[in-house]
Amino acid sequence: MIVQLLWPLLFALATQAWSKCPTKCTCYLDQKGRISVLCKEGGMVGPLDLEDVGLDTEVIKITAPDDNTNALTMSPVFQKYKHLEEIHITKSNIPQLGKHFFWGLTKLDVLNLSQNNITQPLDHNFRGLFKLKELYLDDNRIISLPSGTFRYLPELKVLSVQRNRIEELTPRIFLEISKLKVLKLSGNNLRELNPEVFKDVQELRSLECRGCALSRLNNEIYHLLPHLTHLDLGNNEIENIPSEELRELTRLKYFKLDGNRITAVVDSTFTHQPLLRKLYLARNQIEKISSGAFENVNNLTELDVSYNKLEKLGFLEPIEGSIEVLVLSGNRLKTHALKELLRLEELKGLRLAEIGIADISHEMFPQNLVLLDLGGNHLSTLSRDFLPPSLTELDISRNRFRGLDEDLLTLLDNVQTLKLDGNPWSCDLCYIVPLLERTNRSAVVKEITCISPFTVRGKRLELIRKSELTWCTTPSYTPSYTTSDANFFLIGEDGRVGIIAAGTSVCLLLLTVLVIVGAVCYSKRHAAKYYTHEDKLAMEGESIFDSNHSPLFCDGELSFKFPLDAGEKKVSIATIDEIKKEHAVTNGT
Ligand SMILES: *[C@@H]1O[C@H](CO)[C@@H](O)[C@H](O)[C@H]1NC(C)=O
Ligand SMILES: *[C@@H]1O[C@H](CO)[C@@H](O)[C@H](O)[C@H]1NC(C)=O
Ligand SMILES: *[C@@H]1O[C@H](CO)[C@@H](O)[C@H](O)[C@H]1NC(C)=O
Ligand SMILES: *[C@@H]1O[C@H](CO)[C@@H](O)[C@H](O)[C@H]1NC(C)=O
Repeated sequence: MIVQLLWPLLFALATQAWSKCPTKCTCYLDQKGRISVLCKEGGMVGPLDLEDVGLDTEVIKITAPDDNTNALTMSPVFQKYKHLEEIHITKSNIPQLGKHFFWGLTKLDVLNLSQNNITQPLDHNFRGLFKLKELYLDDNRIISLPSGTFRYLPELKVLSVQRNRIEELTPRIFLEISKLKVLKLSGNNLRELNPEVFKDVQELRSLECRGCALSRLNNEIYHLLPHLTHLDLGNNEIENIPSEELRELTRLKYFKLDGNRITAVVDSTFTHQPLLRKLYLARNQIEKISSGAFENVNNLTELDVSYNKLEKLGFLEPIEGSIEVLVLSGNRLKTHALKELLRLEELKGLRLAEIGIADISHEMFPQNLVLLDLGGNHLSTLSRDFLPPSLTELDISRNRFRGLDEDLLTLLDNVQTLKLDGNPWSCDLCYIVPLLERTNRSAVVKEITCISPFTVRGKRLELIRKSELTWCTTPSYTPSYTTSDANFFLIGEDGRVGIIAAGTSVCLLLLTVLVIVGAVCYSKRHAAKYYTHEDKLAMEGESIFDSNHSPLFCDGELSFKFPLDAGEKKVSIATIDEIKKEHAVTNGT
């Protein structure tokens, strides 16, 4: 009964809250249950107007799509909204902030004015925001920040002024914000950080200055920041990592120096960082990391040294008991160096993309690996014997696979994330059958795009039926001749040629004789080549044949394999059965 009486009342209250929603905006309760207004359609012009926005609103978000940005100017409209906890006004071209416009917003936690046109914030813009914890001014056109700009924000914990046009940090710029924990300065052409300014923010835990044109590490700064756990100086111009300059960063856990100009990492570089957990040194020009570089770094779990010029992996030794994620992609690693990987017992994730691996013929992956990236290499076969048993993520995209065999696929059935794109898939009976049988099970397999034979080029595997597969068709790959894509050819690429058993033996006999004759005839030539379907070969872009007439023709059930290696003059003849066998071998069964 009471409930029944209360319902209309609750309903009225609720609708009252919603009834104040401005047109073109949506009003809702956010995840924390706060009354929120979101206006994101764009096209708003003139002074900011909160008409129809309820006074009890706690979160306001005004933004716009890229092709219809707002052109707003700030006006003193917020003062009545005592409950506001977050204000986000972004993509609105606000040129400046008025004096005391946020006065009285004593509950405001977050002020996000990113992606506007602010050139010069001043201290009085932020007056009255006693509780503000996070201030975002990213992607504006701020040229400078005067001393004490933030001095009325005593509770500020996060300050982000990324991608502006600040070239210098004015002395005392961080005056009165001593509780600051996170400072993001990335994307400003600062060239040098003035140590003086950090005297005011000694509680800092995280400092980011990516793309700041910095040329060195500087202990004068870090000396003032003893609590720093995160330091991101990626995409700068730093040339070396002197251990001396890092000696006071004893609590550092996450260190990013990717995209700099470092050429070597010497012994004991990180000796003062015993807590280091993640280190990013990708995209430098590192040729050598000394074997003692990570001495004393017992807690390193993630190391990214991709896209450098490393050849050896001796530096892994001190961290072999802790490292869990290792990124070595894009280096010049020697094959024998990869054996070192076996010792990394804790390793869970390994990236070896684009390092020129052509063949994996011995064990090199530690057993506990769950993520393996082999993308962008030259692999054409992969044996399940050398793969770790519990993989959940595998990338073999951009290799030279024409198919995957059943044995490997049974292992891959348990892999949750599989990347296969960018391989020269041969959608014929020789290569694709095991994959084709899985199209209904795996979206990734479904999307495989056939590269050959010509008749199905560009077609997705899910659209192909087994009955339309042709016999082995394309220039294929054998491990023994990996230097060339076209070592031997199999007849039957037009797909119309059936397999006619009758007559084969007669034909075979005849051919054997002919081949021997042919071999003798051509023995003075380098690289004897016989083709039966020149037009197709020309299409494949292989202009390697020199005789227009194939001396041998026999309905296409046979194929001839002539190594192109000019040194050898071996002539061999293979029957379908042998070809099948050959593929079985190639595919590692
Ligand atoms: C601030 O606004 C920008 C632009 O809308 C957005 O990308 C960013 O995530 C916002 N920051 C926070 C902390 O909400
Ligand atoms: C940003 O402000 C400058 C003047 O400070 C003005 O010239 C420019 O047109 C403004 N940009 C936009 C996109 O409104
Ligand atoms: C760091 O490593 C040491 C020794 O390996 C270990 O005792 C300690 O608990 C680790 N500390 C952290 C924070 O993981
Ligand atoms: C996949 O499923 C479709 C319809 O569900 C079926 O027609 C097709 O034969 C199946 N393909 C394979 C290879 O099992």
